[in-house]
Amino acid sequence: MTQNLPFSQACENNKRPILEKLAAIFHAPGLVLEIGTGTGQHAVHFAGHLSHLTWQPSDHPRNYQLCLPRIRQAGLANLNSPKSLDVCQSEWGLPDSVNGVFSANTAHIMSWPEVERMFAGVARILAPGSAFCLYGPFSYEGQHTSASNLNFDRHLRSQNPSMGIRDMSDLIALADRCRLSLDEDLDMPANNRMTVWRRQA
Ligand SMILES: C[S@@+](CC[C@H](N)C(=O)[O-])C[C@H]1O[C@@H](n2cnc3c(N)ncnc32)[C@H](O)[C@@H]1O
Repeated sequence: MTQNLPFSQACENNKRPILEKLAAIFHAPGLVLEIGTGTGQHAVHFAGHLSHLTWQPSDHPRNYQLCLPRIRQAGLANLNSPKSLDVCQSEWGLPDSVNGVFSANTAHIMSWPEVERMFAGVARILAPGSAFCLYGPFSYEGQHTSASNLNFDRHLRSQNPSMGIRDMSDLIALADRCRLSLDEDLDMPANNRMTVWRRQA
């Protein structure tokens, strides 16, 4: 019975194309942290299909229990209980290193200082060479990739000026300060991107 669980139509639409990319990127067994898990639709779908991974969902303390009913219902051995994690916490309370990090549609919701803390925290816990997959809409040199992304960005900023679609040049500069490098920038449906950042040795 999934009817009463928190649900996002966007997650339903994008979970298959995202899985296709993650299967290639997270091909080796290991622990993957998800930041900003939301409803848990991604966590259940990816853990269900990538049984060689241990999937660790997490979300902001005000939100991390949202995914709990779905995760309990899925009953997957490789899907951990969600962790309360605000990327601004100085300690993330995780093992010293994880083998991958995934986050979808978070960079435009977080304020820029939060995005900075997310990259710094990811760089701290990611094993050298491992991937941070950040999915969502991004702009390039100040240009949006579609009219719908431009409208979405305007809508976000009107709701809260600290939100907004992030520009890839800002993310690359930030990543560089954190010793992360952009490895891939993959085209995804609905004007989204899968960006893959790797921890420098
Ligand atoms: C638009 S939702 C995306 C949820 C899900 N990943 C998806 O793709 O549907 C943004 C998520 O970012 C989380 N978030 C916002 N600020 C955060 C922070 N400082 N630390 C961790 N998560 C945060 C929110 O709680 C929310 O779950």
